[in-house]
Amino acid sequence: AAVVGKRVKSRRKWMRVVALLNEFEEACATPVTRLRQVVDAMAVEMHAGLASEGGSKLKMLLTSVDKLPNGSEKGIYYALHLGGTNFRVLRVQLGGRTSGIIRHDVERKPIPEDLMTSTSEDLFDFIATSLKEFVEKEDNKDSDCFSVRRRELGFTFSFPVKQTSVSSGILMKWTKGFLIRDMVGKDVCECLQQAFTKKGLAMHVAALVNDTVGTLALGHYNDEDTVAAVIIGTGTNACYLERADAIIKSQGLPTSSGGMVVNMEWGNFWSSHLPRTSYDIELDAESPNPNDQGFEKMISGMYLGEIMRRVILRMSQESDILGPVSSSLRETFALRTPLMAAMHEDESPDLFKVARILNEVLGIPDVPLKVRKLVVNICDVVTQRAARLAAAGIVGILKKIGRDGSGGVASSRSKITSTKLRRSVVAVEGGLYANYRIFREYLNEAVAEILGEECAPFVVLNPTEDGAGIGAALLAATYSSSDTVDT
Ligand code: GLC
Repeated sequence: AAVVGKRVKSRRKWMRVVALLNEFEEACATPVTRLRQVVDAMAVEMHAGLASEGGSKLKMLLTSVDKLPNGSEKGIYYALHLGGTNFRVLRVQLGGRTSGIIRHDVERKPIPEDLMTSTSEDLFDFIATSLKEFVEKEDNKDSDCFSVRRRELGFTFSFPVKQTSVSSGILMKWTKGFLIRDMVGKDVCECLQQAFTKKGLAMHVAALVNDTVGTLALGHYNDEDTVAAVIIGTGTNACYLERADAIIKSQGLPTSSGGMVVNMEWGNFWSSHLPRTSYDIELDAESPNPNDQGFEKMISGMYLGEIMRRVILRMSQESDILGPVSSSLRETFALRTPLMAAMHEDESPDLFKVARILNEVLGIPDVPLKVRKLVVNICDVVTQRAARLAAAGIVGILKKIGRDGSGGVASSRSKITSTKLRRSVVAVEGGLYANYRIFREYLNEAVAEILGEECAPFVVLNPTEDGAGIGAALLAATYSSSDTVDT
């Protein structure tokens, strides 16, 4: 009787865990009907954010970028890229229309974690020193580069910035775990330029851009049908090319080409149609930026592993199928998204990697096979929701600019005659999209599913690598050629 009793008890606990998974799965569901509501909400919020300052949670920041590189750019340009997990320094050699990008050298460094929450001076000193070392190394390799009259730099700063010109702007707030209070409200380029002076580095910041904008610049340089760029990495965001007359909040904006790149800051998008769970609510409340970046917290690489950890923790607390609750499992951000991806993509028959990660990272030893399968299921639910929501965001942009085959959100019914479908390319960058195959597949499939058979073949998602940095160098070339001052 004791054995039977034990079996009944353990079965009950297993059922509880399965129930928790089912509840979670239901709360995360993203049927195409719901995704279409998200698409509509995105397009509506875009309109609202363009209509007036503060008109929406979507800031729709004007970037001052009113022309994109056209291929004629020539010379050597530098770029710095700050804002993801790695900090990057680049040198790009451009050969004009015939040769394009002749070469680019990149150096990646993880950002020392203490710098993310220290002072602006420490952070910019680190950046300036890294760039100086890189420049000196490159100069030694290539004596030709002394023919460069003055070094021009594109600075990719992947946070919300209120641009005051193409080469200056004020930090509005931090995201993605950065928190350097003395920096908010300051001119980002001034801080950088000061650090260069301090370190004796002769470098001129010709363009200050968001990572989405850099990615769009490279995407457009490679393929003129590129209309938008999306980042899905540590954080998530998008930018696109908007017509000047649609940017109501800056009526009369003089632009050289009749349009401007708008940095949406879609990480802060919110809609009641988003499938939010109790885990998301808790994650948000305990984050350094509560009530902020809601869309980002459901989608990007910084958070997926953490959502996953919270679900496993709850299961562990409500049953003993994972043994006693381990201290690592209680630790915020103990499970990083790349490890979650490794578990999700474990193809060994006994899910050996899953068992190893649960043991080594979360301190849960000897996990039986059926529980490992359940863990893979949780990965799937978290990732599928994230990828499908990002897909809805992308279609939202296409809808706003009338490229989703539906005639655009603002059109009255009578105006919806069959809009001619045009090829539209969206450049996509970021570690989550590039390195997490299942995420990428879910996203690509969802874009096609939402658009439908007729329109989907006209939309191309084009992955770029280092586009955020290379694009900033391209923009430095575009903008410095028109306002170069002889030194
Ligand atoms: C965060 C930043 C945004 C950036 C994105 C991707 O959402 O606020 O500016 O583009 O991360 O790096």
